[in-house]
Amino acid sequence: MRADRLHAKALDIGVLDDPFTSALRGPQSRFARTVGNIVTFEPDVSVFYGHPREMTDQDYADLAQLAGIGHTASLRDRRTPLPEDLFDVVAEIDLVQYRGDAVEPPTADPTADPELVRLGVADVPEMTALIELTEPGPFLPRTIEMGVYLGYRDPDSGRLLAMAGQRLQLPGWTEISAVCTHPDARGRGLARRLVSAVAQVIVDEGNTPFLHTTADNSARRLYEKLGFTLNSEVPLEILRVTGNNR
Ligand SMILES: CC(C)(COP(=O)(O)OP(=O)(O)OC[C@H]1O[C@@H](n2cnc3c(N)ncnc32)[C@H](O)[C@@H]1OP(=O)(O)O)[C@@H](O)C(=O)NCCC(=O)NCCS
Repeated sequence: MRADRLHAKALDIGVLDDPFTSALRGPQSRFARTVGNIVTFEPDVSVFYGHPREMTDQDYADLAQLAGIGHTASLRDRRTPLPEDLFDVVAEIDLVQYRGDAVEPPTADPTADPELVRLGVADVPEMTALIELTEPGPFLPRTIEMGVYLGYRDPDSGRLLAMAGQRLQLPGWTEISAVCTHPDARGRGLARRLVSAVAQVIVDEGNTPFLHTTADNSARRLYEKLGFTLNSEVPLEILRVTGNNR
């Protein structure tokens, strides 16, 4: 990443504290579905919810309405008790967030790599198969509309070996997501090259990269080697809406 671009404007680090709301009420409002103070993405685009940390009874009711009975929703860094009999907690994830504002600029432009391919809508079935195999996180049929996705294909078979792309867009920041490499192609530097290339695209767009992973994901080592720094670690709860008439 070129240092002149990274420091060209003052960065608002505060928007990273509530990234889902910052995206949905900001640059990605075109994907937003809203009830009261709760906002989420169109169902085929992404799974995340923007919400107040201090949730009122009305906020919880709006969250249940937006998700729908039997469906899942998620809460990031919730500070108030869950109401009884409205949700089941299905899972709790330690969500770690890294920021890329201190990443050193690469010596060569990683987007000039002739083997790098831009992935498009026609590639979504193959991308989905790689995601299901490697499980880097959610990737839905329209997630590709959230930004630029890049990949590497096997030069002989044409099979997709690795990918990474852009997901949340916040004022000044863009998230790198869906970083995955087929098990047969690991350890060859493909993820490193892809994360660097997506980061360069983000910097060229005038923004700064950030990303999320889980506390127990060994990919953290990759991000730390690239110069990403830990910004936060908070719980992300996955809830199932049960309704209040059990
Ligand atoms: C994480 C993942 C994408 C790495 O892919 P990869 O193409 O094998 O990674 P690279 O070969 O580019 O490795 C780059 C660097 O990160 C390090 N690294 C990569 N994966 C690592 C791991 N699991 N543990 C420790 N270090 C790792 C490598 O040692 C390498 O360091 P080096 O350049 O100094 O030698 C791959 O293991 C994967 O698909 N995992 C499952 C999906 C996932 O969890 N993705 C992350 C979601 S946040």
